[in-house]
This record gives sequence, C-alpha cells and structure tokens, in this order.
Amino acid sequence: MNFSANQNQTPNPTTNPQSPNQTWWKEAVVYQIYPRSFKDSNGDGVGDLQGIIEKLDYIKSLGVDVVWFNPIYPSPNCDNGYDVSDYEGIMPEFGTMQDFDRLLKGLHQRNIKLMMDLVVNHSSDEHEWFKQASSSKENPYRDYYHWWPAEKGKPPYRDSFFDIEEGAWKYDEKTDSYFLHYFATKQPDLNWENPVLREEVFKLMRFWLDKGVDGFRMDVISYISKDINFPEITQEYLDQNDKGRWGIYYAKGPHLHDYLQQMNREVLSQYDIMTVGEGSGVTIEEATNFVDEDRKELDMFFHFDGMYIGLLPGKYKQPDPAGWKLTDFKKLYSKWNDIFAEKGWGSIYLGNHDQPRMVSRWGNDAPEFAAVSSKMLHTFLLTMRATPYIYAGDEIGMGNIKFDDIHDYRDIETLNMYQKLQKDGEDTQKYMEGWKLTARDNSRTPFQWNDQENAGFTTGKPWIKVNTNFNVVNEASQDVDPNSVLNYFRKLIQFRKSHPILVYGDYQLLDEANEQVYAYARSLDDQKLLVLLNFSAQEAEYTSLQPIHTSAILINNYSDLKVGQEKVFLKPYQAVMINLK
Ligand code: GLC
Ligand code: CA
Repeated sequence: MNFSANQNQTPNPTTNPQSPNQTWWKEAVVYQIYPRSFKDSNGDGVGDLQGIIEKLDYIKSLGVDVVWFNPIYPSPNCDNGYDVSDYEGIMPEFGTMQDFDRLLKGLHQRNIKLMMDLVVNHSSDEHEWFKQASSSKENPYRDYYHWWPAEKGKPPYRDSFFDIEEGAWKYDEKTDSYFLHYFATKQPDLNWENPVLREEVFKLMRFWLDKGVDGFRMDVISYISKDINFPEITQEYLDQNDKGRWGIYYAKGPHLHDYLQQMNREVLSQYDIMTVGEGSGVTIEEATNFVDEDRKELDMFFHFDGMYIGLLPGKYKQPDPAGWKLTDFKKLYSKWNDIFAEKGWGSIYLGNHDQPRMVSRWGNDAPEFAAVSSKMLHTFLLTMRATPYIYAGDEIGMGNIKFDDIHDYRDIETLNMYQKLQKDGEDTQKYMEGWKLTARDNSRTPFQWNDQENAGFTTGKPWIKVNTNFNVVNEASQDVDPNSVLNYFRKLIQFRKSHPILVYGDYQLLDEANEQVYAYARSLDDQKLLVLLNFSAQEAEYTSLQPIHTSAILINNYSDLKVGQEKVFLKPYQAVMINLK
C-alpha cells in the first residue's frame, strides 16, 4: 500500500543536493493508454483490461514509470468514457473489478505506477445523482448540479464545447428548468459550490487511492468552480478579458483554488501520489497558482498553448494555410519552461487522445520522414525540463488516419461540428480536409501490434478503423529492428533515467531566430548538454559558439553527423544530443 502522510511534499533522497524538491514524479516518464484502442482480448472489437494485462511486459519493456488510463468507469460512452455513470465501477465492456485489481497488481509487480482519469467537472446524465436531481426540485441530489428555473427566463448564454448550437444550458421539461453542461448535453456539470458534492468527490477519490492507485489525471479540473450568479457574459467581455475564449473564462471560477486546496488537504496530501490537472483555459499568468508547492494544490498540469500553434481561431480546428513557425513553438515552450524554473513543475506532451498524432501534427508523416521525425519529437519530449507524457502508439510512430468519409468518425466533437456546418450550409468538404490534420479520432485508431489482420488489435471488427499503414508501422517489426522508432524511444528513456541533468538541469534556448533548428542547452553543476533538433524536411545549419566533436555525440537519430569548423549540418529531422563538457 502507498498510504503515507504528506509524502508528496517530502523530497526523495536527492541525487543532487543542489536541486531542491526532487520527487519521483518529476523523474517519471508517463505512458498514456486509451483502453478502448489498446488491445482487445475477446474479439468484440473494443480494447479492454484483459488486453492491457496481456501487454504488461511490453509496457515494462518501454522503461516507463507510470501509466495513465483514460476513463474505464461505467459510461453510456457519449464521449468515450468522459461521461461517467458510476465512479466506483468498471465499464463492463472493459472488464470487471477483478480484472482491474489484477491489472493494478501486474503493474505494481513490474514497478509501474497507475494514474486514473478523474472526470468530476461533469458526470453522465445517466449517473444516479443526475437521475435523482432531475426528478424533482426538492430531491436531495438537486444541488449536485447547476439549474436555472425557467420562470427566471432564459439563462445567460454559456458556450458548450460539443453542442455548438444550443449553448451550455439544456432545458429539462420535468422540472421546467435548464441544467448546465459545458460539454455534451449528456455531460451535466457537477456543482462544486455544494460542499456535499465536494465530499462525494473526495470519497470516490479515496476509494481508488485506497485500492492502491498512484495518482490522478484530472479532466478539465480548471472548470469546476462557477460563478453561480451566472452573470451575462458577452463576446466583448471575453475579447477584453479572456482572449475571446470561453475556456479562459471557465478556468477562472471564483473558488477554484479553494477547492483544489481543500482536495489536497483532505485527500491528496494523505497519499504518496502524483497529480496532473488538465489545465484547459489556464494561462501562463495563472500557472504557478496551480503548482507552486507552497500552495498545496496540484503537482502538474497540462497547458494547451502549444496545441493552438498553426490553427485558425475558432472551434473548427482548422489548420492555418500559412502553416506554423518554429520560432513560435520555441518561444512558447521556452516561456513555459521558464515559468517553472523556480517554483512548481511542468508537464510536456505533443499528443494525446484529444490531439492528432504527434508525427502528423509536429513532424512529418510522409513515409520517408515518419520514422526519423518521430524520433526527433521523442528527443524533444525526453530532453525537456518537465515530466514527459507519451501517448501510446507514438512510441512506434503511428500517424493520423485522415478519414475521407464522415461516417468513419466516431468522436462526438467531430460529428457534432459536422452537423452544425451542414445546418449552416457550410462547405463541409473543406472542413473535412482540415480534420485530417486535427480531428481527435486520428489518435484513437487501434494500436498497431503487428502486420496481421486488424494490426493484431482484435479478431473481431474494430470499433474504429485501423490505419492502413499497419503493415509498415507496427510494434512486432520494430521490436526486432535496432534502428526502429521503438528502440530509439527505449534508449532515450534509459538515457533520461541515467542523466538527472535532463530532469533537473537548467534549460537555455539557443539560436532563437533559427526557423529550422530548435537548439537548447541543459546544464547541471559542471555538466552541459546540447540538444539540436531539425524540425524541417530540409538540411539545416546550426552555428556553435564552441567546437563540436563528433566523439561527444550521445544521441543521434541518424548514423552520422556532419560537423564543420563552427557549424553543425543537420539532415532532415535530424536530432542530436552532444556533450559539451
Ligand atoms: C477533456 C477530455 C476530453 C473530453 C472532455 C470532456 O478535455 O480529455 O476527451 O472530451 O474533457 O470530458
Ligand atoms: Ca474487448
């Protein structure tokens, strides 16, 4: 068991006494598994817990320390498990509580920790709480949700991320009231302003922690607190105060930090665990308020700033035809590094279940560049000063599926946006083209295990199509290829583990104006490492202020490196790490 009071405030035995606050979760590499798409054990086309159990040795072979599962609780699956109907159960499609216990044990036996997804900004409308709450105004569960009685007229507009047309208030006839849902209508927002609801959430958190889970990834945790006076919020107000975005307004609820501190006091601080909040709408100005150790809230959160680079503003996730600039990318990640230089700690990711595949979005998924640019991106993720989160499939360089037909999509977000566009008489084909780069289902296709039927994911019909490139991109062939993305990734993890400089060392951006090369130094005590990443499909140059010796190359995704007098010449998507001392 991992019950031990206040452990996550106590630094572990230090490897380097100069760096304060060393903890296991800063040193960890996290591997995110989307259970629906990982491995199907019973041929129903849906990944499951038994499937993950079959792959435990594979997960161990990666060298990762922590696994995060997307939600595995009972759910009507309007949003693939992000609509929870029972917080203390297991989705029957995925298995049973016995399966879960075996899986957790299997992970722990292999020294891997488990982070669960905590989805408590909203529940499913099929949760017993909501069934009760919506049954009458007098029901004791009524205040578990947000209601607006129709006799007060129409509620002030709030935006919904999924139900584009209706907004975030849904009229419910039974009690002649509207309920609030920032996401789909089947995902009513829980009322955190109600202390009884907060205690319910803390209770369910303890349920999983007492089973031995090692932490939580907290879904849209930044949205939990609401101004329950529900003032009128206009677009002009948003433009002036919140960069025009509802998400930023939603992330500024009046008691958000009170609730996180209460959660920390009553639950988190009682266990040796790690927490990462999904920081939707959290701006860099607000960043340390969440993770400054002295405030006792969360350990880390995911910021979204990087995910907007190269997209047009608005909800439709359309790529900017002008593309994106590496200088913007570098500036942004450097800024987010610097904000945590003294206080707090960052996370870093380039892909997850809400984002397209990282190689398609940030690298290059053309056959000649897919492997090498995947390796380059992993070099970035595993050499930054933040805890890296790797999305399953990225370790073998899986790319976007790029559906041509709307019927192939499964994601409520894409399907609802499509309907809205259709209703408005928009050019849906144009949007479909854009979604080939940005839609969430691109990263939800089945894991490509081998070159057999359905990539070895299932013997049945997969719930979503398998990417046709599985005969080239698959785990089995990469496992035996010493030059594969997979084996490069494994090597990098071992490298990070044996070089605390990569975790705790300072970060310094170099050659800021270079539009092709992302160059930075990491330094700790008298050690210094140089990382050079060519983000382009062309050769690129980096001018070094000190001589580079090829004998000092520690990591290279090509077999050689061209070095001139003061210059390093990088091949397309070449990534190198060089010892400068
Ligand atoms: C988070 C999840 C996403 C989900 C949404 C609503 O952003 O990561 O998948 O759709 O919350 O729960
Ligand atoms: Ca199954």
